[in-house]
Amino acid sequence: MRRRPFIVGNWKMFKTPAEADALASALKRGLAEQTAADVGVAPPSLSIPTVVARLKQTGIHVAGQNLHEQPSGAFTGEISGEMLRAAGCSDVIVGHSERRQIFREDDALVGKKVQAAFRAGLLPIVCVGETLPQREAGDAEEVVAGQLSAALSGLSADQVASLAIAYEPVWAIGTGRTATAAMAQAMHASVRGWLGARFPPYVAQSVRILYGGSVKPSNAAELLSAADIDGLLVGGASLEADSFLAIVAAASAVPAASLL
Ligand code: PGA
Repeated sequence: MRRRPFIVGNWKMFKTPAEADALASALKRGLAEQTAADVGVAPPSLSIPTVVARLKQTGIHVAGQNLHEQPSGAFTGEISGEMLRAAGCSDVIVGHSERRQIFREDDALVGKKVQAAFRAGLLPIVCVGETLPQREAGDAEEVVAGQLSAALSGLSADQVASLAIAYEPVWAIGTGRTATAAMAQAMHASVRGWLGARFPPYVAQSVRILYGGSVKPSNAAELLSAADIDGLLVGGASLEADSFLAIVAAASAVPAASLL
């Protein structure tokens, strides 16, 4: 069984609605012929309606970058999963390291947000990853296991099988410093092993584990050729249509056998 590659562009706090519309249009044109990978974009919330309208019937997923754990309430400045779903999102990034580090989201909150995503009918893309001091101390796998345990607590096997996990070492995000394919593969195998030890075998077999952190057209194919790297979460290189399309093309070109 082959896991279909999943390539997601995280636009972070870039792109006004007009700029987002232009980028979505360029992706729509460029992706017309490419079907071998699932593709998603996560625009800033204010640009979601424009991007959803532009990408209607293209099959390109539109994801939120974050959600509040409650469906509604007096939470000034926040957006719920239900609102993202109503606006046309199918997926939502949860626990991105920028949320964890800059906005102080802890493991328990990430777990609540994952629950909230399912409650709203969104598929979470759950981000995990260690900092440089944690890696240098030899704690990377343990840190990621702890993040997974909190993020996935209380979910059914079917729910876990349906979500995506993004391994994004914090030291590789926006730094130009990519984990080598071998380093990423080792962590992805460890994540799959962690799932295999806790859920029925089909869960570990079907969960897509994405790599993120300084992914570029020049390193995408090598990362994707690793057995347990099923997709990519792309920040900076997703902000230009050409570089994102080149990354999607790399995913479409990966032979099926190497994705097993
Ligand atoms: P980057 O960001 O590709 O710019 O390193 C990745 C991410 O934060 O998801």
